[in-house]
Amino acid sequence: MPIRYSYSEIKKSTKGFKDKLGEGGYGTVYKGKLQSGLLVAIKMLGKSKANGQEFISKVATIGRIHHTNVVQLIGFCAEGPKRALIYEFMPNGSLEKYIFSQDGSIPLSIEKIYEISLGVARGIEYLHQGCDMQILHFDIKPHNILLDENFIPKVSDFGLAKLYPTNDTIVSLTAARGTLGYIAPELFYKNIGSISYKADVYSFGMLLMEMAGRRKNLNAFADHSKEKKTVQKMIIVALWCIQMKPSDRPSMNKVVEMLEGEV
Ligand SMILES: Nc1ncnc2c1ncn2[C@@H]1O[C@H](COP(=O)(O)OP(=O)(O)OP(=O)(O)O)[C@@H](O)[C@H]1O
Ligand SMILES: [Mg+2]
Repeated sequence: MPIRYSYSEIKKSTKGFKDKLGEGGYGTVYKGKLQSGLLVAIKMLGKSKANGQEFISKVATIGRIHHTNVVQLIGFCAEGPKRALIYEFMPNGSLEKYIFSQDGSIPLSIEKIYEISLGVARGIEYLHQGCDMQILHFDIKPHNILLDENFIPKVSDFGLAKLYPTNDTIVSLTAARGTLGYIAPELFYKNIGSISYKADVYSFGMLLMEMAGRRKNLNAFADHSKEKKTVQKMIIVALWCIQMKPSDRPSMNKVVEMLEGEV
């Protein structure tokens, strides 16, 4: 079970919310340091419909999840309306920094990008069928893939969708998040199929496509047959995942298998 912290402890560990890491659909994230010296990312949540008891039981569920490719929840705060989730700090930030290559950022090798995609697939597979209850993410996108000091990817922000419904309608949810490109079509249109874990498969496919496309330019004089094969494999798996009909898409289990093997 994650540790409960008081609001004043949170204030202290963030030095009065001094170091803001970013802002998302659920609240603002600050960098903090616990008394033990451990670096953390503290997500201060906005107003929720859920009552305190619901919040704490949800926290207990998220806190039970342990996997190399899933961000660990360390603690929480629930002091009336002041609620926060405390996660382990990921020094290399989120994946969008590396795939939408910005000036000054170091491009990752194809091998590294492939390893990251496989780690992400394993993380989602675990959420879908590795823990005692199925957890559907519904917000897989590069911003929610965090990288630790060794560039091991960690899926973040799972379990929040049901806890914090941003709004009742999906359209306004996507507008509020601005991540249209990753959302499965069945979340938009009623006639495509029912909403299931296959929505995450679709989002993963879009992410995989993005990763296969945004790689370091190759040196024209070197032999890149191995890299080309890897990229090809990523694209084939991605196409499999982004099919319109949810029933045509593979499970994450199958995705992991395909990425590991020869397509
Ligand atoms: N555990 C963490 N370690 C380091 N940085 C983090 C951590 N969690 C979040 N961040 C940073 O804080 C920023 C804001 O995160 P947040 O989850 O609030 O927004 P988002 O991921 O862009 O959108 P969403 O609300 O859909 O998750 C992210 O861009 C990320 O770089
Ligand atoms: Mg996030």
